[in-house]
Amino acid sequence: MDKESGKLGYAVVGLGIGRAHMEAAAKSTRAELLAVCDLRDDRLAAAAKKYPSLRLYREFDELIKCPDIDVISICLPSAMHAEFAVRAMEAGKHVLIEKPIDITVEAAKKIEEARIRTGRVAGVVHQNRYNVPMGPMKKAVEDGRLGRLILGCFAVKWYREQSYFDGSWHGTWDMDGGGSLMNQAVHTVDLMQWLMGDADEISTVMGVCNHDIETEDLTVSTVKFKSGAVASFISTTCAYPGVSTDIQLYGTKGTIEVDADLIKTWKLTDSDDEDAEEEEMIEKYSGNGRAETRDPSILTGHRAVVEDMIGAVLDGHDPRITPTEAMKSVRIVEAAYESARTGRPVKI
Ligand SMILES: NC(=O)c1ccc[n+]([C@@H]2O[C@H](COP(=O)([O-])OP(=O)(O)OC[C@H]3O[C@@H](n4cnc5c(N)ncnc54)[C@H](O)[C@@H]3O)[C@@H](O)[C@H]2O)c1
Repeated sequence: MDKESGKLGYAVVGLGIGRAHMEAAAKSTRAELLAVCDLRDDRLAAAAKKYPSLRLYREFDELIKCPDIDVISICLPSAMHAEFAVRAMEAGKHVLIEKPIDITVEAAKKIEEARIRTGRVAGVVHQNRYNVPMGPMKKAVEDGRLGRLILGCFAVKWYREQSYFDGSWHGTWDMDGGGSLMNQAVHTVDLMQWLMGDADEISTVMGVCNHDIETEDLTVSTVKFKSGAVASFISTTCAYPGVSTDIQLYGTKGTIEVDADLIKTWKLTDSDDEDAEEEEMIEKYSGNGRAETRDPSILTGHRAVVEDMIGAVLDGHDPRITPTEAMKSVRIVEAAYESARTGRPVKI
């Protein structure tokens, strides 16, 4: 930390989605973006063009030696997260790790063990929890306004061209850990378990339906929760041209449906005026993680996650999404793949 300004020194490794971390750190008033690391010269050059004072590294070992760097965002291909996060924490750095935390629960546990051993802060990126409708939806569940949850319907209907996969780590079992479910839909798996509680059992079918890849590009699951609720979960990268992400909850006292990050239905039986409340919720909370929200003071997306991480280090609290929390979605995805392979329900 810079003693005079009190700002954290921030660095990013991996300059794909890492560019969003770079921009969030550059905008923070509580951190100084100091360095980036990547193997690709074109990506390093583009970062230097945008932020001329940045220090550029090709070697991660050189980056983690820098005494002025406090936090490193780990934005590498998914199967590299645990190895690099552990190396960074052992070198004394706090880490913010992209989703999924890694591609197995076993690897995720190594991150948690290193966090405890080193006393560093480790946070994980599941920025969709900051999507504007998610706050009131979670609060309605927590306040019991939906009553007992009966059913959840989750559908991630996205599209990826074949060129997204060609020559890439995407769509490989060893580096991506899966396809539409582990990569694209893991955000929504995280939201499902955050909203509906601990999952108990999953039954899944999967297929490779419209891509030449190793992993699946479509899954359909039934999830049973410890509470007794059930959910359906669909993930795909075959829904041309990329349709929506739908998150729908049905309880004994009402219904909330969020489609494509917009509140579509908000009907709660305990409301004084169901229709007026629904109208107000749709008006107030229909921003999403990417678009401008109606209230510019509400941070969303990577800005919110990076700011939360910086606050966790400076103010001494846990980040909003800890490794233990982030490993829950990986556990569900691992069980889904096991179920699809064996043709049997799998306990989570
Ligand atoms: N939160 C989100 O919405 C979101 C969006 C996209 C990707 N991601 C996650 O971010 C991670 C990265 O995905 P991506 O799409 O940016 O991938 P990417 O392939 O575009 O970028 C990864 C970068 O890491 C670099 N790299 C690889 N090995 C390296 C090493 N040893 N040292 C330094 N740099 C190295 C590569 O050169 C590449 O530039 C994945 O885990 C992915 O799941 C999250």
